[in-house]
Amino acid sequence: MKINGKEYRTIWFDEKNQVVKIIDQTKLPHQLIIKELKNIKDVINAIKVMEVRGAPLIGATAAYGIVLAIIEKNSHEFIKKISNDLIQSRPTAINLKWAVNRVMKKISEVNDNEVLQIALDEAKEICEEDIKFCKNIGSNGLKIIEEIYNKKKDTVNILTHCNAGWLATINWGTATSPIYHAHKKGIPVHVWVDETRPRNQGANLTSFEFNEENVPNTIIADNTGGILMQRGEVDLCIVGTDRILSTGDVANKVGTYLKALAAYDNKVPFYVAFSSSTIDWHIKDFKKIPIEERNPEELSYVEGLDKTGNMQKVLIYPKKSAVKNIAFDITPAKFVTGLITEKGICDASENGLLSLYKNK
Ligand code: MRU
Repeated sequence: MKINGKEYRTIWFDEKNQVVKIIDQTKLPHQLIIKELKNIKDVINAIKVMEVRGAPLIGATAAYGIVLAIIEKNSHEFIKKISNDLIQSRPTAINLKWAVNRVMKKISEVNDNEVLQIALDEAKEICEEDIKFCKNIGSNGLKIIEEIYNKKKDTVNILTHCNAGWLATINWGTATSPIYHAHKKGIPVHVWVDETRPRNQGANLTSFEFNEENVPNTIIADNTGGILMQRGEVDLCIVGTDRILSTGDVANKVGTYLKALAAYDNKVPFYVAFSSSTIDWHIKDFKKIPIEERNPEELSYVEGLDKTGNMQKVLIYPKKSAVKNIAFDITPAKFVTGLITEKGICDASENGLLSLYKNK
């Protein structure tokens, strides 16, 4: 997708300098900074401080992390330790574990002198596959938007939460891919973008992405979705996920659950878009999903441009107040209308998922 009219991916490997390049998402939308990750320390830091974020992208970054670790020290013990550190760098998105295990399995089958090339090929393959899968999510989800448009014959209003856009993946995004496909096909769409406190991924990243691709969108405060749905101003919700259980229960950015409840009450279809790298086939009870809690300062301080155009961080809460920053929540399957995947659309249930992923 484009920034300033130029096509980008969120991550790539610079062969000449043997470094990983990323778009530093902590600086968007005000500055476009391409950052070099030179070693495993840089990679783990980038994931933790969210220079890269979004389940598929942190998976891909971790895969490249193993490549950089091998460049640093091609020893089995070292790589094993690094793989555990990577998996723990953010706990909720299952893509981290999925990507690390995928690369580790590949390199366990080859000689020491082949390890680097095989790991690099696998990290690149994870990225290529993600692009292909996200594109397919788009063509599958397009049918839902098209159906609404054919009935309504007017702009389709879609609500999304957080950023499950191309910046959260390698390209296209998950939740946003059907929207980009509809827009490219000439279907009039308009997106209600939840601001997504405290990190503002909706306002800073999703709205930014849509602006760059000329997709009409409006940022709303996180609590606004309910009244919009009651007024009939939302035709459809599409969100992403950091981990979907085989039961169809969905972990995603905190606030997703409340949007699903409002959608359910107002009979607004609520879809979750993801590819197979985000399915957790092992945990059956959603209470067992590790839910990340982050630094409370992400709530009490806000960052933005001041009147002179400089980035400033300011305290907005009483200094003495206790603050809690839970980063994800769970939307039970019963509130989810359907799942949009690279293989097609299905019910949010074990039978639904098995109908698409039979060999699991
Ligand atoms: O904390 P973040 O910004 O990494 O959270 C991202 C989300 O919650 C996304 O919705 C999810 O990762 C899906 S990305 C395609």
